[in-house]
Amino acid sequence: MRTNTNKQAGGAADLSTADQPGPTEWGAGRVGVGPWREEHPDQPVPQDERYDPTLLAEGDSRNVVDAYRYWTREAIVADIDSRRHSLHIAIENFENDANIGTVVRTANAFAVDTVHIVGRRRWNRRGAMVTDRYQHLQHHATVDDLLAYCREQGLTVVAIDNTPGCVPLETAKLPRNCLLLFGQEGPGVSEEAQDAAVMTCSIAQFGSTRSINAGVAAGIAMHTWIRQHADLNDAW
Ligand SMILES: C[S@@+](CC[C@H](N)C(=O)[O-])C[C@H]1O[C@@H](n2cnc3c(N)ncnc32)[C@H](O)[C@@H]1O
Repeated sequence: MRTNTNKQAGGAADLSTADQPGPTEWGAGRVGVGPWREEHPDQPVPQDERYDPTLLAEGDSRNVVDAYRYWTREAIVADIDSRRHSLHIAIENFENDANIGTVVRTANAFAVDTVHIVGRRRWNRRGAMVTDRYQHLQHHATVDDLLAYCREQGLTVVAIDNTPGCVPLETAKLPRNCLLLFGQEGPGVSEEAQDAAVMTCSIAQFGSTRSINAGVAAGIAMHTWIRQHADLNDAW
């Protein structure tokens, strides 16, 4: 039996997870903090406009880093905006890919500039764990539209897929002003998009499966860019 020993303010330790809500149902008392006056009895209630009066009064159960506790969503987005990376992510969504939520959550964690959804506008938000509220998202109906945007913004497109002739991601030098483009389960990155990319990078595999999950691939590729270009002193 799995046990949950994650103990945060107001949370219980050593809970059996068999009959407990999963991470997407985290609520007050699981990852959150109580009202400001209970958490900080010796400190005055902040009057700064970044703070949300309701959260200060009732507590903050959102899945945000401690530095953003009690902040309004707008203040959090503005703060991330002040230090976003010159990395953009795009994922093709012609068949309603189920991995987009994971990609958005990871992009948020790495302070990616914007996540671009190409094709269908609708996507399953569950895996995003509400991080889409803090992440810039942009829809493009076609790959052509995305490519026009990249030209305007001076972004170099790098496709990520494991098709013949790929450059190994492990040794590739990724551009600083970069858009990493991912494909969907099944078809992978469209030919049209791969043709427009400066290169297609593959992640080395050693087992039997043809490919890894697109959300996992996106996490690996984003972290590769982070290792090459981010200032780690800016990380939490
Ligand atoms: C599940 S894959 C499908 C396509 C894959 N080309 C195939 O032959 O089955 C979906 C997406 O995940 C990413 N991906 C999965 N495994 C990868 C790998 N080893 N290297 C680079 N990208 C990968 C790519 O963006 C790909 O388009």
